[in-house]
Amino acid sequence: MKLILVGLVAIVHTAVSAVIGIDDVPSGMGGDGPTIYGQEGVKIHAAFSDNIKGAFNVPLYLKNGLDPESKRKDRAKRSRLMKSFAEKPTTSGDPLASLTNVKDYYYYGYIDIGNPPQKFSVVFDTGSSNIWVPGEQCQSMACIEHRRFNKTSSQTFLPSGKNIQIQYGTGHISGDTGHDTVKISSAVVLRNQSFAVTNTEDRTFELPRSQFDGLFGLGFTGGSEGGARSPVDTMVQQNILKDPLFSVKLFKGSGKSNGEITFGAYDKAYKDKLNWIDVYGNYFWATTMEGIYYGDEPANYLYGADKVNSLSGALTAQEKARASRKALLDTGSSLIYGDAFSLAAMSTRIGANVLSGEIPCSSIPKLKPFRFVLGGKNFSMSPSEYIYHDEINDICEVQWMPVSEYLWVLGIPFLQSHYSVYNIKERKVGLARMEK
Ligand SMILES: *[C@@H]1O[C@H](CO)[C@@H](O)[C@H](O)[C@H]1NC(C)=O
Ligand SMILES: *[C@@H]1O[C@H](CO)[C@@H](O)[C@H](O)[C@H]1NC(C)=O
Ligand SMILES: *[C@@H]1O[C@H](CO)[C@@H](O)[C@H](O)[C@H]1NC(C)=O
Repeated sequence: MKLILVGLVAIVHTAVSAVIGIDDVPSGMGGDGPTIYGQEGVKIHAAFSDNIKGAFNVPLYLKNGLDPESKRKDRAKRSRLMKSFAEKPTTSGDPLASLTNVKDYYYYGYIDIGNPPQKFSVVFDTGSSNIWVPGEQCQSMACIEHRRFNKTSSQTFLPSGKNIQIQYGTGHISGDTGHDTVKISSAVVLRNQSFAVTNTEDRTFELPRSQFDGLFGLGFTGGSEGGARSPVDTMVQQNILKDPLFSVKLFKGSGKSNGEITFGAYDKAYKDKLNWIDVYGNYFWATTMEGIYYGDEPANYLYGADKVNSLSGALTAQEKARASRKALLDTGSSLIYGDAFSLAAMSTRIGANVLSGEIPCSSIPKLKPFRFVLGGKNFSMSPSEYIYHDEINDICEVQWMPVSEYLWVLGIPFLQSHYSVYNIKERKVGLARMEK
């Protein structure tokens, strides 16, 4: 799992002027503590002050890249990938290497690093485990266009003398690592947190596509480049959280806030609705994946799954790899990514164009949900969740894209339809359908 999939993050400065009022904190979150005013007027409700154990709520803002031009590129890319998989059915080499296109639909929030604090917009990404921000010395265009970290102006920065390279699905960075104080929305303080300050960033991270400055990985230490303790493991180790978990709500539409991450607590309104599944491995928030079903039909659309189930004991290496297929729950990916065979069958079943993914909008009301079986449990997406409707041009298209044969990535469309809770200590994920 060296390759990490990430969706891009963007910070549009003006969007930050939104104020998250105390009334917006869902019941069951945080507690009755003081309201802390964070950066740029963002108000954060928190149950504690500096480093007192608690729960805190971080607003997320949506970079809406669902413009017609981006979607046109999506369709062109989908066609190209579908064709190339059709010609060369076995994926070889780097399964995620093809995921290098524009992904401009993402959620971002704010952190401070150093003393005095330097502020950055970051994508909170469950599909990776490192923090990085652009470095003051970095001359890549992607760095020059963004906020850059000045090591010498932080009194608490400790260089580690190590260099790391990270290859994301969408691009590459290199940087020097060090330790410093990292604050999330000024509300919680991670002391001596490892992070990277970039020296180079490739063009993927340039404006206008990547309006975020850096990344905040929410995976485990095992998934981090260079072995740095990941921020969520730091939170548990430094005993900062009320409960050793965080929860994510991603809203579809615009509003005062487009989503939120709550560290240390989850919305108790979902308590009885959450279905908990074990996390596979020690990297990111991955689960096993056993099937994809349409409506109440018996066919399993997950390619090879039926064969694998009926052949246990006598499997080829490829069938074994399929049998142990994983799904990554990824707040940093714009779409659902999977294998071309399953996706082609799913598109065919609903009457979408296999290559472009387009489907007549008039068919949405007649379609049924797709049910994903993760860790042996059912999680459904309705037609309006797995199909994107560009209302301006009245074009509809599926929200999936082919990538790897053995790893599925359930990105933003799946997480907009499911409230998700990530238990860091018990390595479990809880999912429940988002309430409207
Ligand atoms: C970085 O900080 C140092 C110390 O405060 C300062 O002298 C230097 O000019 C800063 N560099 C930039 C590019 O602002
Ligand atoms: C900070 O963390 C690093 C590595 O995790 C460790 O080597 C160092 O001693 C720590 N420094 C302090 C002041 O805790
Ligand atoms: C998942 O849904 C199917 C079809 O409704 C049902 O047969 C099955 O028992 C469900 N599985 C679980 C674990 O609820």
